[in-house]
Amino acid sequence: MKKIHLEFSVNGEQRSVLVEGYRSLLDTLREEVGLTGTKKGCDVGDCGACTVMVNGQPVNACLMLAAEAQGAEVLTVEGMQPNPDELHPLQEAFMEHGASQCGFCTPGILIMAKHLLDQNPLPTDEEIRFGLSGNICRCTGYTKIFDAIRTAGKRMAAAKAASVEA
Ligand code: FES
Ligand code: FES
Repeated sequence: MKKIHLEFSVNGEQRSVLVEGYRSLLDTLREEVGLTGTKKGCDVGDCGACTVMVNGQPVNACLMLAAEAQGAEVLTVEGMQPNPDELHPLQEAFMEHGASQCGFCTPGILIMAKHLLDQNPLPTDEEIRFGLSGNICRCTGYTKIFDAIRTAGKRMAAAKAASVEA
């Protein structure tokens, strides 16, 4: 099958790969680009493990053709850190609260939670529940995940307030 020359930005780096037209964005990120942080759970759009941002919007990468990402800006869990020496507040809070159990759903939840907190750093439990409704964690309850998201949101709100005052 004829391959497509795909050019897109992944975590701020311009990438160029050859992919078959049927390849999903998820498989392309993991196998052609070599970023395996994004996980494949169900591969049919049910679990949210494969969530990445495309042009600022969360998508299930298993449901998107790589070809549709031509020219797009993609953010994966590997790109969340502000710099190599600093974790994103969500990554820190997940570690502190023990919110990653097996860790399989965590990349998708981190991306979705980032999207939520970027718009609303102090969400209610209802808003967190709604925001994460497409992300399934099979390990245990969501209590630690919710705690971590609340903690990260408070820190992000405080940092934003401090930068406005400065
Ligand atoms: S792997 Fe994409 S939603 Fe489950
Ligand atoms: S941490 Fe295991 S499925 Fe969520």
